[in-house]
Amino acid sequence: MQGEFLKGLEGVFPKSFIAIYDTKKNTQKNTQKKIEQSLFDKQPDAVEKKPESLENQPMVVENQPLAVGKQPEAVLKEVFGYDEFRLLQKDIIDNVLSGHDTIAVMPTGGGKSICYQIPALLFEGLTIVISPLIALMQDQVSALKSAGVEAVFLNSTLTTEQYSASLSKIFRGKAKIVYMSPEGLNTKSKLSLFSERNLTVSCITIDEAHCVSEWGHDFRPDYLEIANIRRLFPKAVCLALTATATKQVRVDIAKNLGMNNPVELISSFNRENIYLEVKRKRDYFFQICEFLSEHKDESGIIYCMSRKNVDDLTERLKEAGFDAVNYHAGLTDSIRAKHQELFIRDKKQIMVATVAFGMGINKPNVRFVIHCDLPKSIEQYYQEIGRAGRDSLPSHALLLYSASDTQKIKYFFTEMDESERQKAENLLSQMVHYAESRTCRRKQILQYFGERYEAEKKCDGSCCDICDAGEAILEDVTIPALKFLSCVIRTKQRYGAAYVTDVLLGSKMKRILDNEHDKLSTYGIGKGIARDAWLELASVLVDEGYLIKSGEYGVLVITKKAHDAIVNKDKIMLPLFMEEKKVDTSAILDTNPLSHLKRSRVKKAPVAQSFDASDEEAAKIAVELRSWRTKTAEENNIPPYIIFGDKTINDIAAKKPRTHSALLDVFGMGEAKADKYGTAVLRIVVENLS
Ligand SMILES: Nc1ncnc2c1ncn2[C@@H]1O[C@H](COP(=O)(O)OP(=O)(O)OP(=O)(O)O)[C@@H](O)[C@H]1O
Ligand SMILES: [Mg+2]
Ligand SMILES: [Zn+2]
Repeated sequence: MQGEFLKGLEGVFPKSFIAIYDTKKNTQKNTQKKIEQSLFDKQPDAVEKKPESLENQPMVVENQPLAVGKQPEAVLKEVFGYDEFRLLQKDIIDNVLSGHDTIAVMPTGGGKSICYQIPALLFEGLTIVISPLIALMQDQVSALKSAGVEAVFLNSTLTTEQYSASLSKIFRGKAKIVYMSPEGLNTKSKLSLFSERNLTVSCITIDEAHCVSEWGHDFRPDYLEIANIRRLFPKAVCLALTATATKQVRVDIAKNLGMNNPVELISSFNRENIYLEVKRKRDYFFQICEFLSEHKDESGIIYCMSRKNVDDLTERLKEAGFDAVNYHAGLTDSIRAKHQELFIRDKKQIMVATVAFGMGINKPNVRFVIHCDLPKSIEQYYQEIGRAGRDSLPSHALLLYSASDTQKIKYFFTEMDESERQKAENLLSQMVHYAESRTCRRKQILQYFGERYEAEKKCDGSCCDICDAGEAILEDVTIPALKFLSCVIRTKQRYGAAYVTDVLLGSKMKRILDNEHDKLSTYGIGKGIARDAWLELASVLVDEGYLIKSGEYGVLVITKKAHDAIVNKDKIMLPLFMEEKKVDTSAILDTNPLSHLKRSRVKKAPVAQSFDASDEEAAKIAVELRSWRTKTAEENNIPPYIIFGDKTINDIAAKKPRTHSALLDVFGMGEAKADKYGTAVLRIVVENLS
């Protein structure tokens, strides 16, 4: 299958070089010392000259189990423990194996890594993976190692010693995959060292390849150096991976990476397991607490627009007893790394963060992503919610939307030059449209990415809030709308929705009495309707163009549309169906928001479970496996998911394997994992069978 591409590459490593390194312990010690000396005063990533000591060291290759000659399907099953490829993975792998440069576009969490990891095992030489995600390389390498794949990384987080050990592994042909950061990449770098030593580099993979394009959202000038690197290894096939789908970005990737007539493969952007929901933002803290209480014991990310919002929300959540940590660019590197680690290792359930968090995070069991503020574009939104449900289990994306966010975001655009601002406003308006529109959210997103989505299947409640609610039902809200609009007029269009509502409800607030608004004809005429419902109505009136919300305090102003409706006595029909419950929370909002939740539980969101809920034995096995996983992860200093994902644990509990071969039928159980953890797993299963 490797055909033409591998011709001429075989036999690069002479047999006589084998194993010298390992047998000469003393030499090894001295070598180590020399390496340290030669690298000591430099940041590992900035190494420009090859370390002398390594130069003198003979190139050594050790025998290692290669998957060369196997079928990709067999590697998928035996190494990664998955039964089938996801859409397009196989096509991408076949292309790479046949030596065609390839640009692959898959959504966040779609499964891009396997597209270079499997070829890496099937090729004879080394695969270089260039990725900007330094902080995650360690985990990527640990995950591969736990699946039995030899991988190393080279970046500035390594000590000189570790760096040399990684290099040495590469030179001994012990590593199949090396992860590298783009910083400091240039022809004089460590890579020229590879080429001078005649290392066979079979594949160069560029992860997050949109970083090479100024049109992408994360341009990194260092990525432009990659083209030079490619010239060092002209025979290596090039695979560029990204989740950014625009044509312009793909054109830049091909050009800036110097790709040779690449094949472009673009997979569907549909992430079926993510439920899409948009709610009107009112008291966001209350709404978030409500959501979290419905998703107890689940892990998730909450995105906020500003660092301050992140810090405030984290504090309030902690006070309310939730297990949250914060993350944004204002925190020091070490705190960020610590918080990320706590989250990834399941030690903290909730990550409250700005956009700074999440690129490349492979935490498979993120069950929800909440947006507390409006994202700036659909691309950004989709990338962020894509961090949920990487294990394919049902997950939830909730966007809390308020029209006033739009103004706040636009404020950030004022410093941009005209064309940039136009572009940014255009992206934002598509996001606003998404939040306000009444058509299936999945359909809209896929349309945005240039895909047609036909929901032939009858909606089973797993698509989005719009599909769940059925056709938009317009209610005749003429009377309450007129009451509200006239109260806005009577209070001289100088107040926000909350104040107008308080007047309608006949509040005895000092401010109202001072303003003598208790004397207005609209004072107290709204008592029959809950406060929440009035606020909802106000926000729909804004959305539908009857009111404009302006300024910092969201002062409501009447539009011509409202004026005409009042004068002509038009019927006012509005889609208020999104509101689930019209409970008067006015009393509750002043006290602990959580006390309310106990009383007003809404339906429980679907919980990921592959075993039958009534199967007590399975439940016990799952609990035991989880606590064993936590302990083992801690002992080995790796994130729990690297041992097994939740889906694997649930599958073990459901299948209750009793033999080693039965274990291999479990989702996510490759041979290496079965060897390593099989005994412990089988023991737990057997001990919990009655
Ligand atoms: N064929 C498969 N069957 C089951 N699970 C898979 C399969 N392929 C990949 N996965 C799992 O899907 C998850 C996401 O994969 P991966 O990290 O490669 O995503 P990605 O496309 O690189 O996303 P991002 O854009 O966020 O980097 C991982 O947990 C991976 O193990
Ligand atoms: Mg990835
Ligand atoms: Zn839908």
